[in-house]
Amino acid sequence: MGLLDGKRGVVLNIANDRSIAWHIANQAIKQGAQCAFGFLPLEKMERRVRKAMEEGGFGQAPLFPCDVSSDESIAAFAENVSKTYGTIDFVVHSLAFANKDYLQIGRFTETPRDVFKQALDISAYSLIALARTFAPMMPNGGSMICMSYLGAEKVIPGYNVMGVAKAALECATRYLAFELGEKNIRVNAISAGPIRTLSAMAVGGIDSVFEHVEKKSPLRRNIDAEEVGKTAVYLLSDLSSGQTGETLYVDSGFNVVGL
Ligand SMILES: NC(=O)c1ccc[n+]([C@@H]2O[C@H](COP(=O)([O-])OP(=O)(O)OC[C@H]3O[C@@H](n4cnc5c(N)ncnc54)[C@H](O)[C@@H]3O)[C@@H](O)[C@H]2O)c1
Repeated sequence: MGLLDGKRGVVLNIANDRSIAWHIANQAIKQGAQCAFGFLPLEKMERRVRKAMEEGGFGQAPLFPCDVSSDESIAAFAENVSKTYGTIDFVVHSLAFANKDYLQIGRFTETPRDVFKQALDISAYSLIALARTFAPMMPNGGSMICMSYLGAEKVIPGYNVMGVAKAALECATRYLAFELGEKNIRVNAISAGPIRTLSAMAVGGIDSVFEHVEKKSPLRRNIDAEEVGKTAVYLLSDLSSGQTGETLYVDSGFNVVGL
């Protein structure tokens, strides 16, 4: 008997088997969920993502293109999901993008307008767009989650414009939770500690962040993506039925330490 038996949802987006989305899907499927996946329509991406899904044992699951910077692409993705599942119970938003040239220590002040707009559009506005698109496909209520980082609240040198995007994402989580609550749709964020994924490695100075967490966090270690996956299962399941609009930390407790 799984915590997500009978539940179906969408997971966006896996890049490879290190992606947090992969680990969330892996844990959700183990708990009985059915997942449909998105992939960013770039060259060779579909093949890479399908291979990663096969490594997790969910290679047969539905997989459709979705570029969240395009309303048309989101609509086409939703159409594919609707044809496949009809209705769904959850949405996993695990994606972000910013030009890595500006994710370097000491370059925040130089952030150009177009880099700012793109980072906020893909990393934060997309949650609103996906919520608007998928809420009508959740007639029985459900759960939406997104992935944030401590850089939303505190300065993490090098995280720069992505920190601003995560602040917007966490705030959007609260506003969406407020509006969708009457449909019994809950919206929560997970603030994860650093994990070695493709996106994380684009952040300047990331190695020192891992070292710092290991030395200073209450658990004296970094987290692994499986731990995020397990918390995601909790948020997607009925175990968290009274929680919405929250940001939950999965970070070895690092966020509580002042010095
Ligand atoms: N890795 C970490 O240390 C860490 C910590 C906290 C939060 N997060 C967040 O977790 C989420 C997942 O990142 P990850 O670390 O698994 O890295 P990842 O590189 O594996 O995943 C990022 C995903 O975003 C997708 N993406 C980028 N632009 C897109 C677009 N226009 N449309 C659709 N998809 C797009 C990529 O294809 C990729 O699948 C992100 O929101 C990230 O900010 C990561």
